Amino acid sequence: MSNDLLNSVRVEPSILSADFARLGAQVQTVLDAGARIIHVDVMDGHFVPPITIGPLVVSALREQADSAGALLDVHLMIERPERHVADFLKAGAHSITVHAESTPHVAYATSLVREQGGSVGVAINPAAPIEAVSEIASEIDLVLCMTINPGWAGQRLIEHTLEKVSRLRETLPESVALQVDGGVDPNTAPRCREAGANLFVAGSAVFGTADPAEAYRAIVEAAGAV
Ligand code: DX5
Ligand code: ZN
Repeated sequence: MSNDLLNSVRVEPSILSADFARLGAQVQTVLDAGARIIHVDVMDGHFVPPITIGPLVVSALREQADSAGALLDVHLMIERPERHVADFLKAGAHSITVHAESTPHVAYATSLVREQGGSVGVAINPAAPIEAVSEIASEIDLVLCMTINPGWAGQRLIEHTLEKVSRLRETLPESVALQVDGGVDPNTAPRCREAGANLFVAGSAVFGTADPAEAYRAIVEAAGAV
């Protein structure tokens, strides 16, 4: 199931911009609106300055996601992710993405996710060349092309990253999903789609609005997603 969803054209609400005092209700709102992938941003205060959440929050959401047939897509913005992937998988992560810049052992980290049954992705920051993922592309399920520098929601999409998205789509195996994350909204989503992305992470453009369900649907429509 996971790879069918990852290979479809989907908007992924990121809970980073949700109201954590009522996280379950916020997640239910977007599940009811049709979201089938929930994006979970994990930050450690080292790879990126902020500290956010850990496996506890993933396990708190797992049952709710399962009931809706949805995936929990965990984006690890942490140093040495290979030390933590097992905990996130045990907590209920369906897919885990590690940053190419976060460890000298990217292939080890991705193989751990795979061996333990998860789908796996590798992310690259705006400053990284697309070659940072080319040697590992045939062994993974998705590439995340960051469209902002990671760490905070609510930033503007960095224009030159769209050209990277295009080059990635041209060079990655067809089976590898291509995700964008950062500054995705109804205006930028169509441009990301045109460049070749099929997974659109959106935080503030969903949960930073008065009506997250409506905001989610607006991005789905703009992106031509399902
Ligand atoms: C930031 C995170 C994003 C964040 C995006 O480093 O990886 O997933 O939630 O937020 P927006 O959609 O507001 O740019
Ligand atoms: Zn993210």
